Amino acid sequence: MKPAFFLLRLISLLHLALALCSGSGDFQFAYHGFTGTNLTLDGNATVMPDGILVLTSRKTNLKGHAFFPTPLQFRTSPDGTARSFSAAFVFAIVSDYTDFSAHGMPFIVSPTKNFTTALLAGYLALLNVQNNDNTTNHLFAVELDTIQNTDFQDVNANHVGINVNNLHSLQSSPTGYYDDGNNGVFKNLTLFSREAMQVWVDYDGNTGQIDVALAPIKVAKPRKPLVSAKYVLSTVLTEWAYIGFSSVTSGINSRHYLLGWSFVMNGPAPSINISNLPKLPCFGPKPPSKVLVIVLPIATATVMLSLGNIATLLVLRHLRYAQLLEDWELEFGPHRFSYKDLYHATNGFKSKHLLGTRGFGQVYKGVFRKSRLEVAVKKVSHESRQGMKEFISEVVTIGRLRNRNLVQLHGYCRRKGDFGLSRLYDHGTDPQSTHVVGTMGYLAPELIWTGKASKLTDVFVFGAFLLEITCGQRPVNDDSGRYNQEMLVDWVLDHFNKGSLNETVDLRLQDLDVLNNNMVS
Ligand SMILES: *[C@@H]1O[C@H](CO)[C@@H](O)[C@H](O)[C@H]1NC(C)=O
Ligand SMILES: *[C@@H]1O[C@H](CO)[C@@H](O)[C@H](O)[C@H]1NC(C)=O
Ligand SMILES: *[C@@H]1O[C@H](CO)[C@@H](O)[C@H](O)[C@H]1NC(C)=O
Ligand SMILES: *[C@@H]1O[C@H](CO)[C@@H](O)[C@H](O)[C@H]1NC(C)=O
Ligand SMILES: *[C@@H]1O[C@H](CO)[C@@H](O)[C@H](O)[C@H]1NC(C)=O
Ligand SMILES: *[C@@H]1O[C@H](CO)[C@@H](O)[C@H](O)[C@H]1NC(C)=O
Repeated sequence: MKPAFFLLRLISLLHLALALCSGSGDFQFAYHGFTGTNLTLDGNATVMPDGILVLTSRKTNLKGHAFFPTPLQFRTSPDGTARSFSAAFVFAIVSDYTDFSAHGMPFIVSPTKNFTTALLAGYLALLNVQNNDNTTNHLFAVELDTIQNTDFQDVNANHVGINVNNLHSLQSSPTGYYDDGNNGVFKNLTLFSREAMQVWVDYDGNTGQIDVALAPIKVAKPRKPLVSAKYVLSTVLTEWAYIGFSSVTSGINSRHYLLGWSFVMNGPAPSINISNLPKLPCFGPKPPSKVLVIVLPIATATVMLSLGNIATLLVLRHLRYAQLLEDWELEFGPHRFSYKDLYHATNGFKSKHLLGTRGFGQVYKGVFRKSRLEVAVKKVSHESRQGMKEFISEVVTIGRLRNRNLVQLHGYCRRKGDFGLSRLYDHGTDPQSTHVVGTMGYLAPELIWTGKASKLTDVFVFGAFLLEITCGQRPVNDDSGRYNQEMLVDWVLDHFNKGSLNETVDLRLQDLDVLNNNMVS
């Protein structure tokens, strides 16, 4: 053991001892590195020899949890008021890409350390489809989330949220901080910047005030928190509960690190002394060897020249079906269709197979040659940045989200132009805008107000679709149709109330009586 390393270890143990024995009477600790801390770890979580806690290392679909080993008393009696508490921690997220990561790492207070039934991806190894939003979870979390999950109304793919029993945050904000050194101006931060950052979580048991602040490691705790919520946790937390962290990587090679962590009941969290934290490893690409630098271009040029003609021929021949496979896609292999199969299934995307143009692309009807399976093929344009985001979130959740009212996603395909992951991180979007997936005219009104999809909103979509066919009119008035209300639904409803429903039926439909009977029944 190197002397310096030994000293560091000694200091961190000393810190721990000091923290645990401090005379205030209220429970507290401060970890600078995690050597000798006896945390309860599961999944991919591990403490490295230098003291860094690696929650998940560089591989897709990993999960990891780390908990303080014993439960803490959050309420003085089973029905008592939840006590104030404070936590601070220093973390870093390192993705293989500089502008895309997945998924995130929440700080949690939970009655259990057992998360074996939790799902990965958007469920952050915390909850699952059945228990999300259930009051029996008794779960409080502060999520650091690097994916925009529209099922949970995430604001963007780089946000901090306060959550109670549910992955849909009570409050959330794009990542950043109010800079006290600069008149409190808001500065953007990126969770997966590969830089260590500190988070402070404060709960006031008297008022129910929850404040979460975040800042670069060298910046002191900002006066103005990033996200706040008012929620009395007495109805949430169990008398005894565990504190810890969860972490998932899903479709992207991401690493989630914890460098330090402090906690106290009834007081401000002990400050973390940055200079005592273990150092993050270096992540830059390995510089290539000199031999390679000289030999590689020459070899490449030679090979390129001699193979040039053959390559050109092959490229021309395969252009029609061309596609690329990237690292992050490997796990979705079985779900990926070849462009050739989709091309044939839709007879080359012929317009007579076009079912409609919806949202961010065209939808074609197709039949697979071998299995005779009937499918709808949605074609998303490379130009549609929003469409691509949706596309990735859909692929990343293949097989994990099922809704019997929605068409099941069988798989995906992509073709050619660099997948453009770098373009997906949307620097220009409005942080306040939420994103409701759907096409105007089919969205149930309450979905627009509440953002909450349900069986009923699915029924509404289907109804809007039926009206479109029966009336031969577009669902939203674009001045080309026969009605002057904003929405087709309103026009039909007016006629229904006036008893003149027949007038709404498309004149081009021949067998009016049959249709009328069906519509009334
Ligand atoms: C975490 O996952 C990586 C990559 O698969 C593996 O090398 C490592 O051994 C795992 N660590 C633990 C503690 O499971
Ligand atoms: C470590 O924590 C476990 C509980 O997870 C406990 O049983 C054990 O005694 C602890 N060991 C030490 C050395 O504190
Ligand atoms: C965790 O929970 C699962 C499912 O509820 C159970 O099967 C398993 O035994 C539990 N593990 C531990 C260590 O308690
Ligand atoms: C949801 O909560 C109810 C009680 O409110 C409980 O009976 C049920 O088991 C919970 N469901 C899940 C999946 O946790
Ligand atoms: C932080 O730790 C360093 C090295 O152990 C020490 O010199 C310094 O005084 C500490 N700072 C604070 C604020 O405690
Ligand atoms: C911060 O990010 C938001 C999008 O989240 C963007 O609108 C704004 O221009 C950014 N500000 C700076 C200073 O980069």
